[in-house]
Amino acid sequence: MSPQTDIKRIGILTGGGDCPGLNAVIRAVVKTGLLDYGIEAYGFLDGFDGLIYNRRRKLGYDDVSNILTAGGTILGTSNRANPFAYLEPGSGGEAQARDLSGRCVENFKELQLDALFCLGGDGTLTLAHKLGLRGIPVIGVPKTIDNDVVGTDVTFGFDSAVQIVAGALDRLHTTAMSHHRAMVLETMGRYSGWLALVGGMGGGGDVILIPEIPYRIERVCEVVEGRNERGKRFSIVVVAEGVCLPEGDPVVRRRVKESHDQIRLGGIGVWIAHEIEERTGIESRAVVLGHVQRGGTPTAYDRVLATRLGRAAMVEAAGGARDVMVGVQGADIRTVPLAEVAGKQRRVPTDCEMVQTARSVGTSFGDERR
Ligand code: F6P
Repeated sequence: MSPQTDIKRIGILTGGGDCPGLNAVIRAVVKTGLLDYGIEAYGFLDGFDGLIYNRRRKLGYDDVSNILTAGGTILGTSNRANPFAYLEPGSGGEAQARDLSGRCVENFKELQLDALFCLGGDGTLTLAHKLGLRGIPVIGVPKTIDNDVVGTDVTFGFDSAVQIVAGALDRLHTTAMSHHRAMVLETMGRYSGWLALVGGMGGGGDVILIPEIPYRIERVCEVVEGRNERGKRFSIVVVAEGVCLPEGDPVVRRRVKESHDQIRLGGIGVWIAHEIEERTGIESRAVVLGHVQRGGTPTAYDRVLATRLGRAAMVEAAGGARDVMVGVQGADIRTVPLAEVAGKQRRVPTDCEMVQTARSVGTSFGDERR
């Protein structure tokens, strides 16, 4: 017998940058809803754009069958659509931003939905919370390769991106060793260093630079030179895109005016490689891994995590929870009020066990500590 619930119909959207595992969550939400409760699902297309313009499709069992392993999102996404300060795509920020949140509420009501599942990172979850305050019962599911959402130990998509970073480092090792070069790999991650730290550790980086730990370029060069002197005639440097220049600012790649978070980072890796070569005479190259980190099939870990989170989100919605996010705490899936998540970012604690472990095996963070 199906568990009892007042919920009959839900909406689901994926917002922000895509990442592996989004489809696995959609599948779990829709299947759990149908099989355990008899709940119908509608998917909004391209994130909040779909809710604003009422572009959606019904999601039946067959629509979500066989998508567990597929990267990206079958619903499409956008990291530009902000219902509270909406700028038409391509307007470049010249037009006046409009508050279209009322339209979201109308469309939600017109479809007679009982809950809206928002799969996204801190930007999407912040907007979801604001829609919650406008009366839409929202349930958040934390995604991002950056792993920077508060209220959860880990986000789905992170493990898949870590594998890509570590795999790239494996490849860079062989070419660095052959040419006796310093290879600098720049990872994504915005203002958090999780992806560089965990991917860098997994790929045996000699130097890992993250935004949370201030570094000195002179120290990075000393480490690279010291390795050469010891006969290790190559070095692997991993740098998170959010690492700042010595003057104190991160390198901004572009500004996206329509976006909730307008700044796009990128370019610090090229600067670090240039400085190493200039200061040490050791030939250096920079590799910016970019959107490769967000693509492709999720790891088995992410497939399982995404499935657990999707199912938990549906169970919570069916039980009447509102304005919460489901997250991982230890071995368990728990709920956290979205109010505690909105507008915050989870950063690497500078003396956490993982950082200490990296130091213990000789990894430098470009600071004065060993
Ligand atoms: O938040 C995910 C992320 O991939 C960040 O790591 C990166 O800074 C940003 O999105 C890139 O955004 P875009 O896809 O707009 O270039």
